[in-house]
Parts: sequence; C-alpha cells; structure tokens
Amino acid sequence: MKSATKNLIKVRRCPAIESELTVPGDKSISHRAILLSAISNGRCTITNCLEGEDCRSTARAMRQLGVAIETPEPGTVIVEGNRGIFQAPSEDIDCGNSGTTMRLMAGLLAPQGFRCRLTGDPSLSKRPMRRVIYPLEEMGARLSAEGALQCPPLVVEGGPLTGITYRLPVASAQVKSAVLLAGLFAKGQTTVIETTRSRDHTERMFEYFLIKFNREDVWEGSSPSPRKLKESRITVEGGQVPESRDFRVPGDISSAAFWLVAAAAKPGSRLLVKDVGLNPTRTGIIDVLIRMGACIREVVESSPHGEPAGTIDIKGCKLQGTVIHGAEIPNVIDEIPIIAVAAALAEGKTTIRDASELRVKETDRIAAVATNLRAMGVEVEEFPDGMAITGGKPLKGAKLQSFGDHRIAMAFAVAGMFATGETVIEDTACVQTSYPGFAETLKLIQKGKGIGRRTPVISSLESKSRRRKTP
Ligand code: S3P
Repeated sequence: MKSATKNLIKVRRCPAIESELTVPGDKSISHRAILLSAISNGRCTITNCLEGEDCRSTARAMRQLGVAIETPEPGTVIVEGNRGIFQAPSEDIDCGNSGTTMRLMAGLLAPQGFRCRLTGDPSLSKRPMRRVIYPLEEMGARLSAEGALQCPPLVVEGGPLTGITYRLPVASAQVKSAVLLAGLFAKGQTTVIETTRSRDHTERMFEYFLIKFNREDVWEGSSPSPRKLKESRITVEGGQVPESRDFRVPGDISSAAFWLVAAAAKPGSRLLVKDVGLNPTRTGIIDVLIRMGACIREVVESSPHGEPAGTIDIKGCKLQGTVIHGAEIPNVIDEIPIIAVAAALAEGKTTIRDASELRVKETDRIAAVATNLRAMGVEVEEFPDGMAITGGKPLKGAKLQSFGDHRIAMAFAVAGMFATGETVIEDTACVQTSYPGFAETLKLIQKGKGIGRRTPVISSLESKSRRRKTP
C-alpha cells in the first residue's frame, strides 16, 4: 500500500469495513504525561505512550534539559522527574513538527534561569508564537521569535515569574497549558480564563499528579439546557511539584477519527474501536457524525488516570450534510480534514465556520482540504474561517499532496477508499508524527482483516443517536 522510497500512499475503493481495532496512544496526552513526569518528584512509568515523532521531540527536549528518560520497550517510557530543575541545554532544542512541544516547553522554560532557543521544521517555523510569548512575558520571562510575524525560532530567557490572570484570546489548549505549566513555578496564583472550552488534558493530569488547582465554570443565564458556557477560570497556585505517578495513555480519538469516518460513510460497515480516549472535550467527532446520520454508540469503560477511555461501535449508512461552528470547533479542530471528507461523501451541504485556526496548523488546512477535494471532483467554497462542501457526487481518484501535514495525508487516504480508480497521496512520511502504523492498518482494513463482527460490546445499537446536540 505504501511505497517506502517515495513515501506514497496508494489507495483504491474498498468494500464495506468489518473490523475491530485499536489506535496508538493519544498525542496530546502523551506529551503532557512526559512533561508532568519530568517535573515531578520521582520516577514515573508511562505506558501506551505515542511513539510518534511529535512525542519523540518532547522526550528529546526533556533529555537535553537533563531529564533521564528510558524507553525499555515500545510505548513504555520511564521518566525520572527532577522537580523542574533543568540544566541549560548545550544546543538549540529542535521541536520538529510539533507545535505542542514548542508551546508547552515555552511554559516550562519561562521560569528557568537560562536562555534556550527552540527551533522547528519548515512547517513549525511558520506557526505563530505570539500567543505564548505575550502571557509568558506578562509573567516575567523574556521571549522573542526570530522568524517573521513572531514565528520560530523561539528564544526563551527564563527568570522569576509572578502569577497572572490571563483571558485566552484564542481557544487554545496549548496556550492554556503553557501558562498553567509556567504558573506551577510562579509566585502566587495564575488564572487562565477560557470562554470556549478547549481540551482539558492538562487540568486532568494536574489532578492525577496531585497538583491543587481550581476550576470555576460560569454559565450564561439561569441553567436552561443545554447550558452555554460564559467562561471557565482555571487557577493554580505556584510552588507545587507534581507527585510522581505511573500513567497509561488511552488510544487517540483523533487517529480513530479516520476509521470512524471510513466506516460511518460506507453502508454495511461495522467497526469497533477499542481502548480509545473518550474525554468529552475530544469527542465532538462523534456528535458531528451522529448529526450526519451515523449510527454510533460509545461506552466509557475505565478512567483510571483521570482520562475516560472505552469503545466506539459504529455502523455505516448514508450520511447527510451538517453545520459545524462556534463552541464545537475546538472540540473537533484536529478532525476537520476528515470531517471534510465525510462531508464530501454525504448528501447535501456541510458548512464549517469559526475555524480560522485551521489556517495556522501544520499547513493551512482550509486551503489544503479545498485543493484536494476539488481534485477529487468535489464542489468546495472557501471562507476565511472555514468552508462549505457540497457532497454526494462520486469521488474521483487523484494524485494528491499531503502538504507535509499528517492529518491531510490520512484524511485523503480515507477519501481514496471511496473514490473511483486509484488515489495517490504524496509525501506521507509526515504520518509518523501522530500515527505510526497507519498505512499497515489501512492495508488490513482494505483487505477486510481484523474482523470482530461477533464481538459487539455495546447492546441496542439500533437505538441510534444517544447523544444529539445542536452546536
Ligand atoms: C493540542 C491543542 C490543539 C490541537 C493540537 C494539540 C494540544 O492546538 O490542534 O493538535 O495538545 O494541546 P491549539 O492549542 O493550537 O488549539
């Protein structure tokens, strides 16, 4: 399926999917598990940690700062926490393709007594860093971006920090986390205010690593249902050291999303994804697919380390278009490329708005999705903050670019499973950043391997959409 030499993924139309699978560990959670362990007061063993390039960048950065990290077997990472007392690195820290590494690291470097330069690959070198520079400078560190428009390389000159109250100008879990991590080392309290809920892995991990913090949610009006969040204030007291603990990372729902769409859009398909993270700040993809008419059930089976995990059971059918906007966007931000593919396969129009953040991801994901969908014969209208996709016409196989973006490469590999002829995606080495093993799973799914047809774990699938929501 994949040509190693040219890094191509080649896909052909495939029959209905009948499969049961797991996906690699969650990327966002793996980064945070490494970082929290590194600043903890002892040894932490992380299991099912993502082996992707992005998380390797985080582990490498920590090693450069003097943290001992071992990987005795794939997915197991043993970190010797050093209470956040880092050594100055002898060289620049290369964050590779990983925005999460660079932004969260900025938060941990801000209180250190040395200067450190963070670099990245050409994609990361185009991503905005002002969003972390501003609040960390308010706390007392000195930061500067050497690239145009405050893009990397990012230089952090650490120093004593004082807690601040900071209202996030963009819904960003990376910025929230950078400020909260810096807040652990600051004098007094640090409060981050978010008006749109972003993924809350840092807060959950604070709780699990026994860091005291407070979250206050303020709701609009007098509790009609569904309640609308006015703001959420997360406050952490400085001077706390995480208590060392072991942590198991659940599967990444953002990686599962590719197979969820592949199964949802193919009538006759049946797919079980097991041991996948079901944190409610990440399950927007399920809500979107349910609104599109998919038949999905999910069960949370465990939540041992503060992160709910379980099984998603999905049956394929004909999808319909939907509207995705507002507060739902941060919950599906990484899934929009594959949602756009679902939209192309659905009857009618799907409109995505309020998603201008997509323009500053690993590539401009609005432009990349529009280019590739058009190459497959789909009508797409582009907006500054989203797109409208008219679906329902057969997709044409095409030669497509990944734009060096892992999620674009994988989303269009799935599109190829529905297209006439062959679809070739070029430059797919980027898939390794978040989903090692994607091409192999694609191959198995196309061959109908890994069938788990007789092991449905969720009864009464017929009752369909358990969780309907209007955005
Ligand atoms: C992430 C937050 C999101 C997401 C990214 C991972 C995180 O980015 O798109 O893939 O782990 O905190 P933003 O914080 O820029 O929204």
